[in-house]
Amino acid sequence: MPATSGAIPVLEDLGDVAGRRVLVRTDFNVPMDDGPGGRRITDDFRIRAALPTIEWLTTRGASVVCASHLGRPKGEPVPKYSMEPVRARLAELAPGVELLENLRFDPGEESCDPAFVDRLVAGADAYVDDAFGAAHRAHASIVGPPRTLPSAMGRLLQREVEVLLGLRESPKHPFVAVLGGSKISDKLGVVEALLGVVDALVVGGAMCFTFLAAQGNPIGDSLFEPDQVETCRRLLERAAAGGTAIHLPEDVNGVDARGGYATFGTRLPDGAKGFDIGPGTAAAFSDVVMDARTVFWNGPMGMFEDPRFAAGTRTLAEAVAATKAFTVVGGGDSAAALAQFGLADDVDHVSTGGGASLELLELGDLPGLEALRKAPNARG
Ligand code: 3PG
Ligand code: MG
Repeated sequence: MPATSGAIPVLEDLGDVAGRRVLVRTDFNVPMDDGPGGRRITDDFRIRAALPTIEWLTTRGASVVCASHLGRPKGEPVPKYSMEPVRARLAELAPGVELLENLRFDPGEESCDPAFVDRLVAGADAYVDDAFGAAHRAHASIVGPPRTLPSAMGRLLQREVEVLLGLRESPKHPFVAVLGGSKISDKLGVVEALLGVVDALVVGGAMCFTFLAAQGNPIGDSLFEPDQVETCRRLLERAAAGGTAIHLPEDVNGVDARGGYATFGTRLPDGAKGFDIGPGTAAAFSDVVMDARTVFWNGPMGMFEDPRFAAGTRTLAEAVAATKAFTVVGGGDSAAALAQFGLADDVDHVSTGGGASLELLELGDLPGLEALRKAPNARG
Protein backbone atom coordinates (compact mmCIF):
# COMPACT_ATOMS: atom_id res chain seq x y z
CA MET A 1 0.00 0.00 0.00
CA PRO A 2 1.37 3.44 -0.87
CA ALA A 3 2.32 5.63 2.06
CA THR A 4 -0.49 8.16 1.64
CA SER A 5 -3.18 5.58 2.25
CA GLY A 6 -1.40 3.96 5.19
CA ALA A 7 -3.08 5.94 7.94
CA ILE A 8 -6.57 5.80 6.46
CA PRO A 9 -8.89 3.41 8.31
CA VAL A 10 -10.37 0.57 6.24
CA LEU A 11 -13.62 -1.31 6.82
CA GLU A 12 -12.01 -3.74 9.29
CA ASP A 13 -11.04 -0.76 11.47
CA LEU A 14 -14.72 -0.04 12.15
CA GLY A 15 -14.86 -3.07 14.45
CA ASP A 16 -18.17 -4.85 14.94
CA VAL A 17 -20.79 -3.20 12.75
CA ALA A 18 -23.68 -5.51 13.66
CA GLY A 19 -26.79 -3.49 14.49
CA ARG A 20 -25.05 -0.23 13.65
CA ARG A 21 -26.33 2.33 11.19
CA VAL A 22 -23.61 3.16 8.66
CA LEU A 23 -23.75 6.21 6.39
CA VAL A 24 -22.03 5.32 3.09
CA ARG A 25 -21.06 8.16 0.73
CA THR A 26 -21.21 6.68 -2.76
CA ASP A 27 -20.75 8.29 -6.15
CA PHE A 28 -23.98 7.33 -7.90
CA ASN A 29 -23.62 10.23 -10.32
CA VAL A 30 -24.48 7.94 -13.25
CA PRO A 31 -25.14 8.86 -16.87
CA MET A 32 -28.85 9.03 -17.73
CA ASP A 33 -31.12 9.76 -20.66
CA ASP A 34 -34.84 10.38 -21.12
CA GLY A 35 -36.65 7.14 -21.84
CA PRO A 36 -40.35 6.74 -22.70
CA GLY A 37 -41.14 6.22 -19.00
CA GLY A 38 -38.87 8.95 -17.62
CA ARG A 39 -35.19 9.21 -16.72
CA ARG A 40 -33.17 6.04 -17.33
CA ILE A 41 -29.70 4.99 -16.22
CA THR A 42 -27.55 4.32 -19.29
CA ASP A 43 -24.59 2.84 -17.37
CA ASP A 44 -24.81 1.49 -13.81
CA PHE A 45 -21.04 0.88 -13.45
CA ARG A 46 -20.73 3.27 -10.50
CA ILE A 47 -23.60 1.55 -8.65
CA ARG A 48 -22.18 -1.93 -9.18
CA ALA A 49 -18.74 -0.69 -8.14
CA ALA A 50 -20.04 0.17 -4.66
CA LEU A 51 -21.58 -3.28 -4.03
CA PRO A 52 -18.54 -4.96 -2.42
CA THR A 53 -18.54 -2.32 0.32
CA ILE A 54 -22.31 -2.36 0.78
CA GLU A 55 -22.33 -6.16 0.95
CA TRP A 56 -19.38 -6.23 3.36
CA LEU A 57 -21.45 -4.09 5.73
CA THR A 58 -24.84 -5.75 5.29
CA THR A 59 -23.53 -9.31 5.64
CA ARG A 60 -22.08 -8.25 9.00
CA GLY A 61 -25.44 -6.98 10.18
CA ALA A 62 -25.08 -3.25 9.61
CA SER A 63 -27.95 -1.18 8.26
CA VAL A 64 -26.67 0.84 5.35
CA VAL A 65 -27.77 4.32 4.31
CA CYS A 66 -26.22 5.46 1.03
CA ALA A 67 -25.91 9.12 0.06
CA SER A 68 -24.83 10.57 -3.28
CA HIS A 69 -25.08 13.56 -5.53
CA LEU A 70 -26.45 13.34 -9.07
CA GLY A 71 -25.68 16.00 -11.66
CA ARG A 72 -25.29 19.64 -10.70
CA PRO A 73 -28.68 20.85 -9.43
CA LYS A 74 -27.07 23.83 -7.65
CA GLY A 75 -28.63 23.62 -4.19
CA GLU A 76 -32.29 23.17 -5.05
CA PRO A 77 -34.55 20.23 -5.89
CA VAL A 78 -34.58 19.65 -9.66
CA PRO A 79 -36.86 16.74 -10.67
CA LYS A 80 -34.58 15.48 -13.44
CA TYR A 81 -31.83 14.96 -10.85
CA SER A 82 -33.99 12.96 -8.44
CA MET A 83 -32.29 9.82 -7.10
CA GLU A 84 -35.44 7.76 -7.82
CA PRO A 85 -34.06 5.80 -10.85
CA VAL A 86 -30.87 5.09 -8.89
CA ARG A 87 -32.91 4.01 -5.88
CA ALA A 88 -34.81 1.54 -8.08
CA ARG A 89 -31.60 0.06 -9.50
CA LEU A 90 -29.98 -0.12 -6.07
CA ALA A 91 -33.05 -1.95 -4.71
CA GLU A 92 -32.47 -4.63 -7.39
CA LEU A 93 -28.76 -4.95 -6.67
CA ALA A 94 -28.78 -4.49 -2.89
CA PRO A 95 -32.26 -4.96 -1.43
CA GLY A 96 -32.92 -3.26 1.89
CA VAL A 97 -30.31 -0.55 1.48
CA GLU A 98 -31.55 3.00 1.98
CA LEU A 99 -30.62 5.87 -0.34
CA LEU A 100 -31.00 9.53 0.62
CA GLU A 101 -32.26 12.12 -1.89
CA ASN A 102 -29.68 13.97 -4.02
CA LEU A 103 -27.24 15.67 -1.62
CA ARG A 104 -26.89 18.65 -3.96
CA PHE A 105 -30.59 19.50 -3.59
CA ASP A 106 -29.39 21.25 -0.41
CA PRO A 107 -27.01 24.21 -0.80
CA GLY A 108 -25.28 23.00 2.38
CA GLU A 109 -23.64 20.11 0.51
CA GLU A 110 -21.40 22.18 -1.74
CA SER A 111 -20.89 25.01 0.74
CA CYS A 112 -19.92 22.42 3.36
CA ASP A 113 -22.39 23.87 5.86
CA PRO A 114 -21.86 22.40 9.38
CA ALA A 115 -25.63 22.36 9.98
CA PHE A 116 -26.05 20.17 6.89
CA VAL A 117 -23.29 17.85 8.13
CA ASP A 118 -25.12 17.58 11.48
CA ARG A 119 -28.32 16.52 9.70
CA LEU A 120 -26.41 13.97 7.63
CA VAL A 121 -24.71 12.29 10.55
CA ALA A 122 -27.78 12.35 12.84
CA GLY A 123 -28.60 8.76 13.79
CA ALA A 124 -25.50 7.28 12.09
CA ASP A 125 -22.98 5.28 14.11
CA ALA A 126 -20.23 5.18 11.50
CA TYR A 127 -19.27 6.64 8.13
CA VAL A 128 -17.79 4.96 5.07
CA ASP A 129 -16.52 6.88 2.07
CA ASP A 130 -16.67 4.87 -1.15
CA ALA A 131 -17.26 7.84 -3.46
CA PHE A 132 -13.94 7.93 -5.26
CA GLY A 133 -15.36 9.96 -8.18
CA ALA A 134 -16.24 12.78 -5.78
CA ALA A 135 -13.27 12.53 -3.38
CA HIS A 136 -11.70 15.64 -4.95
CA ARG A 137 -14.67 17.74 -3.79
CA ALA A 138 -14.41 19.21 -0.27
CA HIS A 139 -18.18 18.96 0.13
CA ALA A 140 -20.19 18.38 3.31
CA SER A 141 -20.84 14.66 2.78
CA ILE A 142 -17.16 14.01 1.95
CA VAL A 143 -15.23 15.94 4.56
CA GLY A 144 -17.90 16.50 7.26
CA PRO A 145 -18.83 13.08 8.72
CA PRO A 146 -15.22 11.97 9.51
CA ARG A 147 -14.90 14.93 11.89
CA THR A 148 -17.16 13.14 14.38
CA LEU A 149 -17.99 9.59 13.26
CA PRO A 150 -15.70 6.55 13.28
CA SER A 151 -14.87 6.36 9.57
CA ALA A 152 -13.31 4.19 6.90
CA MET A 153 -12.70 4.04 3.21
CA GLY A 154 -14.74 1.45 1.36
CA ARG A 155 -13.27 -1.22 -0.89
CA LEU A 156 -13.74 0.79 -4.08
CA LEU A 157 -12.01 3.87 -2.72
CA GLN A 158 -9.24 1.69 -1.30
CA ARG A 159 -8.58 -0.01 -4.65
CA GLU A 160 -8.65 3.28 -6.59
CA VAL A 161 -6.10 4.82 -4.23
CA GLU A 162 -3.87 1.76 -4.35
CA VAL A 163 -3.86 1.63 -8.16
CA LEU A 164 -3.53 5.34 -8.87
CA LEU A 165 -0.92 6.08 -6.21
CA GLY A 166 0.90 3.00 -7.45
CA LEU A 167 1.15 4.66 -10.87
CA ARG A 168 2.50 7.81 -9.29
CA GLU A 169 4.96 6.16 -6.96
CA SER A 170 6.15 2.87 -8.41
CA PRO A 171 5.13 2.30 -12.04
CA LYS A 172 6.86 -0.34 -14.13
CA HIS A 173 8.68 1.32 -17.01
CA PRO A 174 8.13 2.14 -19.80
CA PHE A 175 5.16 4.05 -18.37
CA VAL A 176 2.99 5.62 -21.07
CA ALA A 177 0.18 8.10 -20.44
CA VAL A 178 -2.37 8.53 -23.21
CA LEU A 179 -4.38 11.72 -22.96
CA GLY A 180 -7.29 12.86 -25.08
CA GLY A 181 -10.43 14.90 -24.70
CA SER A 182 -11.06 18.44 -25.72
CA LYS A 183 -9.18 20.70 -23.34
CA ILE A 184 -5.53 20.75 -22.38
CA SER A 185 -6.37 23.46 -19.82
CA ASP A 186 -8.35 20.85 -17.79
CA LYS A 187 -5.35 18.53 -17.71
CA LEU A 188 -2.42 20.89 -17.40
CA GLY A 189 -1.70 20.03 -13.78
CA VAL A 190 -1.67 16.32 -14.42
CA VAL A 191 0.44 16.70 -17.57
CA GLU A 192 3.03 18.65 -15.59
CA ALA A 193 3.03 16.00 -12.85
CA LEU A 194 3.14 13.10 -15.33
CA LEU A 195 6.10 14.57 -17.19
CA GLY A 196 8.11 13.74 -14.08
CA VAL A 197 7.20 10.01 -14.07
CA VAL A 198 6.21 8.85 -17.56
CA ASP A 199 8.53 7.76 -20.33
CA ALA A 200 6.12 8.91 -23.00
CA LEU A 201 3.03 11.05 -23.28
CA VAL A 202 0.65 10.29 -26.13
CA VAL A 203 -1.71 13.14 -27.04
CA GLY A 204 -4.89 12.77 -29.11
CA GLY A 205 -8.39 14.25 -28.92
CA ALA A 206 -9.10 17.88 -29.70
CA MET A 207 -6.35 18.91 -27.27
CA CYS A 208 -3.79 17.75 -29.84
CA PHE A 209 -4.60 20.76 -32.01
CA THR A 210 -3.31 23.15 -29.37
CA PHE A 211 -0.04 21.18 -29.41
CA LEU A 212 0.04 21.06 -33.22
CA ALA A 213 -0.53 24.84 -33.29
CA ALA A 214 2.31 25.26 -30.79
CA GLN A 215 4.56 23.48 -33.30
CA GLY A 216 3.56 26.04 -35.93
CA ASN A 217 1.14 23.86 -37.89
CA PRO A 218 -1.95 25.41 -39.49
CA ILE A 219 -4.92 23.59 -37.93
CA GLY A 220 -7.77 24.94 -40.10
CA ASP A 221 -10.93 25.45 -38.07
CA SER A 222 -10.21 22.65 -35.62
CA LEU A 223 -11.16 23.16 -31.98
CA PHE A 224 -8.20 24.41 -29.95
CA GLU A 225 -7.35 26.70 -27.04
CA PRO A 226 -5.54 29.81 -28.31
CA ASP A 227 -4.59 30.89 -24.79
CA GLN A 228 -2.85 27.55 -24.15
CA VAL A 229 -0.59 27.51 -27.22
CA GLU A 230 2.29 29.08 -25.30
CA THR A 231 1.83 26.58 -22.45
CA CYS A 232 1.94 23.68 -24.92
CA ARG A 233 5.12 25.10 -26.44
CA ARG A 234 6.65 25.19 -22.97
CA LEU A 235 5.52 21.62 -22.23
CA LEU A 236 7.06 20.38 -25.49
CA GLU A 237 10.34 22.09 -24.59
CA ARG A 238 10.31 20.73 -21.06
CA ALA A 239 9.63 17.20 -22.27
CA ALA A 240 12.40 17.40 -24.86
CA ALA A 241 14.86 18.69 -22.26
CA GLY A 242 13.89 15.93 -19.82
CA GLY A 243 14.04 13.13 -22.37
CA THR A 244 10.28 12.39 -22.26
CA ALA A 245 8.73 11.64 -25.62
CA ILE A 246 5.52 13.51 -26.47
CA HIS A 247 3.77 11.69 -29.30
CA LEU A 248 1.47 13.89 -31.37
CA PRO A 249 -0.65 12.92 -34.38
CA GLU A 250 1.01 12.64 -37.76
CA ASP A 251 -2.33 12.45 -39.54
CA VAL A 252 -5.87 13.55 -38.72
CA ASN A 253 -9.37 12.51 -39.81
CA GLY A 254 -11.98 15.20 -40.17
CA VAL A 255 -13.97 17.20 -42.68
CA ASP A 256 -12.77 19.57 -45.39
CA ALA A 257 -14.07 23.08 -45.95
CA ARG A 258 -17.08 21.66 -47.84
CA GLY A 259 -17.94 19.28 -45.00
CA GLY A 260 -16.73 16.14 -46.79
CA TYR A 261 -14.93 13.38 -44.86
CA ALA A 262 -11.15 13.69 -45.30
CA THR A 263 -7.77 12.58 -43.96
CA PHE A 264 -5.06 15.19 -43.53
CA GLY A 265 -1.44 15.33 -42.47
CA THR A 266 -0.49 17.68 -39.64
CA ARG A 267 -0.99 20.81 -41.74
CA LEU A 268 -4.71 21.34 -42.18
CA PRO A 269 -6.07 23.44 -45.03
CA ASP A 270 -8.22 26.53 -44.40
CA GLY A 271 -11.73 25.62 -43.28
CA ALA A 272 -10.84 22.00 -42.46
CA LYS A 273 -11.74 20.53 -39.08
CA GLY A 274 -10.05 17.58 -37.38
CA PHE A 275 -12.27 15.22 -35.35
CA ASP A 276 -10.10 12.14 -34.86
CA ILE A 277 -6.53 10.94 -35.09
CA GLY A 278 -5.75 9.44 -38.51
CA PRO A 279 -4.95 5.78 -39.28
CA GLY A 280 -1.15 6.29 -39.30
CA THR A 281 -1.32 7.97 -35.91
CA ALA A 282 -3.61 5.30 -34.49
CA ALA A 283 -1.11 2.62 -35.57
CA ALA A 284 1.85 4.57 -34.17
CA PHE A 285 0.07 5.22 -30.84
CA SER A 286 -0.83 1.50 -30.63
CA ASP A 287 2.84 0.56 -31.01
CA VAL A 288 3.76 2.83 -28.09
CA VAL A 289 1.03 1.24 -25.94
CA MET A 290 2.04 -2.31 -26.96
CA ASP A 291 5.66 -1.66 -25.92
CA ALA A 292 4.72 -0.21 -22.51
CA ARG A 293 4.68 -1.98 -19.15
CA THR A 294 2.28 0.53 -17.58
CA VAL A 295 -0.43 2.49 -19.40
CA PHE A 296 -2.73 5.19 -18.09
CA TRP A 297 -5.43 6.34 -20.51
CA ASN A 298 -7.72 9.33 -20.00
CA GLY A 299 -9.82 10.90 -22.74
CA PRO A 300 -10.98 9.71 -26.17
CA MET A 301 -8.83 10.19 -29.27
CA GLY A 302 -11.66 11.77 -31.23
CA MET A 303 -15.40 12.34 -31.45
CA PHE A 304 -16.10 8.61 -31.12
CA GLU A 305 -19.88 9.08 -30.65
CA ASP A 306 -19.90 9.74 -34.43
CA PRO A 307 -19.05 6.45 -36.19
CA ARG A 308 -17.01 8.35 -38.84
CA PHE A 309 -14.66 9.53 -36.10
CA ALA A 310 -14.57 6.48 -33.83
CA ALA A 311 -11.68 4.62 -35.50
CA GLY A 312 -8.86 6.35 -33.61
CA THR A 313 -10.41 5.76 -30.19
CA ARG A 314 -11.30 2.18 -31.14
CA THR A 315 -7.77 1.35 -32.33
CA LEU A 316 -6.29 2.87 -29.18
CA ALA A 317 -8.80 1.01 -26.98
CA GLU A 318 -7.91 -2.25 -28.75
CA ALA A 319 -4.22 -1.65 -28.07
CA VAL A 320 -4.92 -0.86 -24.41
CA ALA A 321 -6.94 -4.09 -24.20
CA ALA A 322 -4.27 -6.16 -25.98
CA THR A 323 -1.03 -4.89 -24.43
CA LYS A 324 0.68 -6.93 -21.71
CA ALA A 325 1.17 -3.72 -19.74
CA PHE A 326 -0.69 -2.98 -16.50
CA THR A 327 -3.53 -0.81 -17.82
CA VAL A 328 -5.55 1.85 -16.03
CA VAL A 329 -8.35 3.81 -17.66
CA GLY A 330 -9.81 6.90 -16.03
CA GLY A 331 -12.63 9.23 -16.95
CA GLY A 332 -16.23 8.64 -17.98
CA ASP A 333 -15.65 9.14 -21.71
CA SER A 334 -12.78 6.67 -22.04
CA ALA A 335 -14.66 4.16 -19.88
CA ALA A 336 -17.75 4.64 -22.06
CA ALA A 337 -15.63 4.11 -25.19
CA LEU A 338 -14.21 0.88 -23.78
CA ALA A 339 -17.71 -0.32 -22.92
CA GLN A 340 -18.99 0.63 -26.39
CA PHE A 341 -16.25 -1.48 -27.99
CA GLY A 342 -16.87 -4.38 -25.56
CA LEU A 343 -13.35 -4.10 -24.10
CA ALA A 344 -14.04 -2.99 -20.53
CA ASP A 345 -13.11 -6.41 -19.10
CA ASP A 346 -9.75 -6.39 -20.88
CA VAL A 347 -8.10 -3.64 -18.88
CA ASP A 348 -6.68 -4.03 -15.38
CA HIS A 349 -8.48 -1.13 -13.74
CA VAL A 350 -11.28 1.11 -14.96
CA SER A 351 -11.44 4.02 -12.55
CA THR A 352 -14.85 5.28 -11.46
CA GLY A 353 -13.36 8.77 -11.29
CA GLY A 354 -12.49 11.25 -14.01
CA GLY A 355 -11.47 14.49 -12.33
CA ALA A 356 -10.67 12.62 -9.11
CA SER A 357 -8.24 10.22 -10.82
CA LEU A 358 -6.42 13.11 -12.52
CA GLU A 359 -6.23 15.08 -9.28
CA LEU A 360 -4.95 12.08 -7.32
CA LEU A 361 -2.28 11.45 -9.96
CA GLU A 362 -1.35 15.11 -9.93
CA LEU A 363 -1.31 15.81 -6.19
CA GLY A 364 -1.02 12.39 -4.56
CA ASP A 365 -3.87 13.23 -2.19
CA LEU A 366 -7.52 14.30 -2.18
CA PRO A 367 -9.76 16.19 0.29
CA GLY A 368 -11.78 13.02 0.92
CA LEU A 369 -8.65 11.06 1.87
CA GLU A 370 -7.32 13.86 4.04
CA ALA A 371 -10.62 13.93 5.95
CA LEU A 372 -10.51 10.16 6.59
CA ARG A 373 -6.96 10.40 7.86
CA LYS A 374 -8.18 12.77 10.60
CA ALA A 375 -11.15 10.62 11.66
CA PRO A 376 -11.48 9.91 15.40
CA ASN A 377 -10.62 6.23 14.86
CA ALA A 378 -7.62 6.89 12.54
CA ARG A 379 -4.26 5.83 13.90
CA GLY A 380 -1.31 8.21 13.94
C1 3PG B 1 -18.10 13.10 -11.59
O1 3PG B 1 -18.97 12.52 -12.23
O2 3PG B 1 -17.13 13.66 -12.11
C2 3PG B 1 -18.21 13.08 -10.09
O3 3PG B 1 -19.38 12.45 -9.67
C3 3PG B 1 -18.12 14.50 -9.54
O4 3PG B 1 -19.13 15.29 -10.07
P1 3PG B 1 -18.89 16.85 -10.21
O5 3PG B 1 -17.83 17.02 -11.27
O6 3PG B 1 -20.22 17.45 -10.61
O7 3PG B 1 -18.41 17.36 -8.87
MG1 MG C 1 -16.61 15.69 -13.31
